[in-house]
Amino acid sequence: MKKILYVGAEAMPFAATGGLGDVMGSLPAALAATGEADVRVVMPLYAAVSESWRRQMKQEDVFTVNLAWRQQYCGVYSLQKDGVTYYFIDNEYYFKRPALYGFFDDGERYAYFCMAVMELMKRLDYYPDVLHAHDWQAALTVVYLNCLYRSLPGFADVRTVFTIHNIEYQGCYDFSILGDVFSLGENEHSLMEHDGCINLMKAAIECADRVSTVSPRYAEEIRSAEYAHGLEYCLERHANKLCGILNGIDYTYYDPENDPAIFAGFTPTRMAGKAKDKLAMQKEVGLPERKDVPLLSIISRLASHKGLDIVSECIWSLVAENDVQLIILGKGEERYEQLFLTLQAAYPDKVRALITYDRDLSKRIYAATDIFLMPSKSEPCGLSQMIASRYGAIPVVRETGGLYDSIKPYWQDGDKICGNGFTFANYSAAELKERTEAAIALWNTPTLRKKFVKQIMQTDFSWGVSAQKYLEMYAGIE
Ligand code: GLC
Repeated sequence: MKKILYVGAEAMPFAATGGLGDVMGSLPAALAATGEADVRVVMPLYAAVSESWRRQMKQEDVFTVNLAWRQQYCGVYSLQKDGVTYYFIDNEYYFKRPALYGFFDDGERYAYFCMAVMELMKRLDYYPDVLHAHDWQAALTVVYLNCLYRSLPGFADVRTVFTIHNIEYQGCYDFSILGDVFSLGENEHSLMEHDGCINLMKAAIECADRVSTVSPRYAEEIRSAEYAHGLEYCLERHANKLCGILNGIDYTYYDPENDPAIFAGFTPTRMAGKAKDKLAMQKEVGLPERKDVPLLSIISRLASHKGLDIVSECIWSLVAENDVQLIILGKGEERYEQLFLTLQAAYPDKVRALITYDRDLSKRIYAATDIFLMPSKSEPCGLSQMIASRYGAIPVVRETGGLYDSIKPYWQDGDKICGNGFTFANYSAAELKERTEAAIALWNTPTLRKKFVKQIMQTDFSWGVSAQKYLEMYAGIE
């Protein structure tokens, strides 16, 4: 049985801000469920990890981590969940803060975290077959293994995978802190260097035995300048070790039949609950309680790469010209928050802008939604289109990254309906509007809608297939 150690900055349900947390919270359990891997996960013990989780933890060890001249306390706690061992790195100075990220010393915080992970392996005498690091916050484990730990007993045969969840965030720092914070020296200068700065993601790509990303399409896209945020040369050079494996979603947590967060349950063949969920949501946010109007939604971080600039170009006319309702859930860039609040003020009977983020509320909205808009400019994988599909909403997406791999365009072949959503190729407001109106027209044709929505809900976005692909990748590393 292969021993796999996952390293990452967040994991559901302990502490998470985005898709990385969903994946770290569900892929390890899916791998463990195959019976073919012993999976452990290590993450920081943030202030956000609740008391009830802490009560279930056991202290494994306490030691000191040396990071350059610093000597920092490190506590290791563990708990078992869904067949997976979770380790938590405890250091209140670094992790007892009001948020997970966004501090001036994030570079130092995650350098400490990565060094602590290396020491954890040594102290617990646990050497995995594969160290699997996720995103820039975990990148230094791969670097430390190769540059600092390789010759120590136990580390010689540890293989490495580095997964890119979003290439936009690379971990870039000034070279003045190479020794002082990252504990590396001049020998590592060229390995760490990109564009005159330290680049943690680039260094991990160089060092890892395999590099993966979260969809096959994104694995191709990041070899080009349009998507790679400067790292295309590096990925092109390492193309032979690069692959893309589509994420899945947790089918137990996202289960419209048994979801305690939603008003009424439903399945592909028993859809009455979904109509109730819609009425309940309309009531909750004070929109007219109408079954016959399609409810559109956007649930997203309000950032431009999520496609919000093309949304802002067409949303006014889309709402003005169609009998629709629209709910937006998310926060982010001020200009988009303002846009949606202004739209709501202009169309109080049609639009609700909920400038916040709340997981249970998001599930109630997915359950109520008829048409889900996700026109991302780039999207490594995207999970929302999968969640929306499972909750019976018709996705309208741009053909990029994981959206391209997961949503196939609607078309009719005689009596047969093909595809599982509406898609468009160019990053254009006109195309987004046109495809959204096509989805509205289909929704307004009840016989077609019934068949199509059922087909969408039955698309398999569970982890089964992808977990197998991860196992194959691990097995393939010499
Ligand atoms: C990042 C990506 C998103 C992906 C998620 C999980 O949040 O932006 O597309 O689904 O990671 O891999």
